[in-house]
Amino acid sequence: MLHLTENPILLDRQYFVKSRDGVYRNAQILETRENLDAPEEGELLRSTQIQYYVHYTGLNRRLDEWVDASRIDTSQGCLADKNFENDFAQISHDDPFRKVTRNLKRKHDEINHVQKPYAELDPASAALEKEYESITKVKYIDCVQFGKYEIDCWYFSPYPEDYGKCPKLWVCEYCLKYTKCVSTYRNHLYSCKARQPPGVEIYRDGNISVYEVDGTEHKLYCQNLCLLAKLFLDHKTLYFDVEPFLFYVLTEVDKYGAHVVGYFSKEKVSPEGNNVACIMTLPPFQRRGFGKFLISFSYELSKRQGVIGSPEKPLSDLGKLSYRSYWLWVILDRLGKNSQSIKELSQETSICQADIVLSLQSLNMVKYWKGQHVICVTPRVIQEHSSHFPSPRLVVKPNLLKWNPNQPSATQQSRGKIS
Ligand code: ACO
Ligand code: ZN
Repeated sequence: MLHLTENPILLDRQYFVKSRDGVYRNAQILETRENLDAPEEGELLRSTQIQYYVHYTGLNRRLDEWVDASRIDTSQGCLADKNFENDFAQISHDDPFRKVTRNLKRKHDEINHVQKPYAELDPASAALEKEYESITKVKYIDCVQFGKYEIDCWYFSPYPEDYGKCPKLWVCEYCLKYTKCVSTYRNHLYSCKARQPPGVEIYRDGNISVYEVDGTEHKLYCQNLCLLAKLFLDHKTLYFDVEPFLFYVLTEVDKYGAHVVGYFSKEKVSPEGNNVACIMTLPPFQRRGFGKFLISFSYELSKRQGVIGSPEKPLSDLGKLSYRSYWLWVILDRLGKNSQSIKELSQETSICQADIVLSLQSLNMVKYWKGQHVICVTPRVIQEHSSHFPSPRLVVKPNLLKWNPNQPSATQQSRGKIS
């Protein structure tokens, strides 16, 4: 049983903090705030007055959270400053559930790992990284109401004025306008006429529908989409300058309307050959195949354009997992049918050669020979790996994509909705 003493809780110092799963982890105190749900003054306990924003050392920032003092172990004062990079394996409190197998730890590291320490970056990047982190270190918005979902937020998002500092935002799931007041939200729901994203519906398969939304034509919608997405994306800086982008919004349709599930954005012109700038599935819909559907959709657009594409780097931890899973499925599927060179694979799939080589390397299926990469596998190896990368749950059907890359979206809009 944890014993609280009156040792102060100091900003920027490290303590053992009880995380969501009940495990005590090393964490740094980044910020404090008044506890908005605390009882009236007079009956206050130290543990309910103030909340502390903590970052669990070595873990992804989306796990950062506001905690009460009761979750912070101050019994030994703060912990000495040292490198806790691998604190996952060195939690000190007795916890009967803390049996971490090696596999679980590897999965955990892949999903929740932190990025490179500053020391491994060049000085300019390290300075930028530090500045970015200091601006975005605290996510003030704990959750958003979005349609029928109350969604816990993962990262800071620059909602303007004091919207960005209130614990809960109410977002209209159709026009994406936001408010901090539930009664304003309810009034809005009565008056809001939108029941689907603006722009053009370019894909429909049963209740799955994709809209192309032009950042110039629907600036406010796209800005609001970026602000919403930023709550779940670290390290993406596009919020207000949306004109150079097209947004592909994936929805699930029912009798009430088309409900946003996720999206990706894409530069209208990309000198780097990027076919995705940002990609996101809203948390309630994650791990159901929508991410890979969006990725596949982005390559389908590239194929129509006759170009080879790649997502904008750096990829997030979850972005890497999803892309790797998609790339390997596509590559193994093709290699299982006929043997091809990396160049041919790239031309057929629109996946750039570097991404193909990276994927092949991860399964040890490529060799560097006479100055170039060559695929090096037997049919048995392909078969073995294929079982780990089964067909995606949701596939893009190219014949249902009503999209012509040579026609600007405004012209397409006059075509109206596809039936
Ligand atoms: N834990 C373990 N594996 C995961 C997880 C997770 N939480 N999420 C995704 N994966 C892996 C799995 O391998 C999964 O394949 P599987 O279902 O066969 O196991 C694969 O990724 C893809 O899963 P999907 O269900 O198709 O993808 P999802 O709808 O969950 O969306 C996405 C993936 C878009 C990356 C989502 O996690 C997300 O929005 N994350 C937050 C925003 C983000 O990080 N975006 C990418 C930034 S990089 C960029 O924008 C270019
Ligand atoms: Zn609305």
